[in-house]
Amino acid sequence: GDVAVLVPAAGAGVRLGPGAPKALRLLAGEPLLVHAVRRIATAPSVHTIVVAAPPAEVEAVRQLLAPIAESTVVVGGSTRQASVAAALAAVPAGPEIVLVHDAARALIPPVLVEAVAATIRAGHDAAIPVLPVIDTVKEVSADGVVLGTVDRSALRAVQTPQGFRRAVLAAAHASAVDALTDDAGLVEKQGVRVTCVPGSPYAMKITQPFDLALAEHLLATQPE
Ligand code: CTP
Ligand code: MG
Repeated sequence: GDVAVLVPAAGAGVRLGPGAPKALRLLAGEPLLVHAVRRIATAPSVHTIVVAAPPAEVEAVRQLLAPIAESTVVVGGSTRQASVAAALAAVPAGPEIVLVHDAARALIPPVLVEAVAATIRAGHDAAIPVLPVIDTVKEVSADGVVLGTVDRSALRAVQTPQGFRRAVLAAAHASAVDALTDDAGLVEKQGVRVTCVPGSPYAMKITQPFDLALAEHLLATQPE
């Protein structure tokens, strides 16, 4: 394999409600992070996995993942961006393709990992999985009045894994000023061209209790 996958998993999961950090919350009896790492490790291109864990859970995460896949666990940061930067710093020499995948996207299909990696291998600097926006989108004022309807035909909802040529991601993180919610946003600011590949509904992010219930249902009815 020529790919390192960074897995930011240090978030609290506030929107999921009270409980353990989100990556450790259970889905079909196993932590979200275990599902995500097991699926990532199934992708043939993957050489290295680095997880950024909640600071209080680093040792627990090491023990959880030891039987699942060979991985490195580092201390996460106070923002997703800081967690990714910490994981990136722990990638050994070797892999020249780096993917970043949210632990919260626990049902990631291994073929999507391969598709993003293949896009970088083919010579692109950055690649992201996207889906069309299905709902009508409106711009609304702070007091709830519609200002206009956005043309959604040019809009895409963005998922992970996001893939990068290693040097491109390292340069973007090294010069990052403000915190963004994804890594492609950082490389865009560097003027790097980001290529879209088709995403997957299974790469949905588990954010709210509804999403966790949906993921439970998907695993129970369509285990792959
Ligand atoms: N993440 C991280 N470090 C942080 C914040 C987030 O590694 N300081 C990770 C999360 O663990 C998650 C991914 O980034 O896998 C996407 O973030 P999100 O879905 O927002 O997760 P949380 O921040 O945990 O959830 P919430 O915002 O509801 O608290
Ligand atoms: Mg968050």
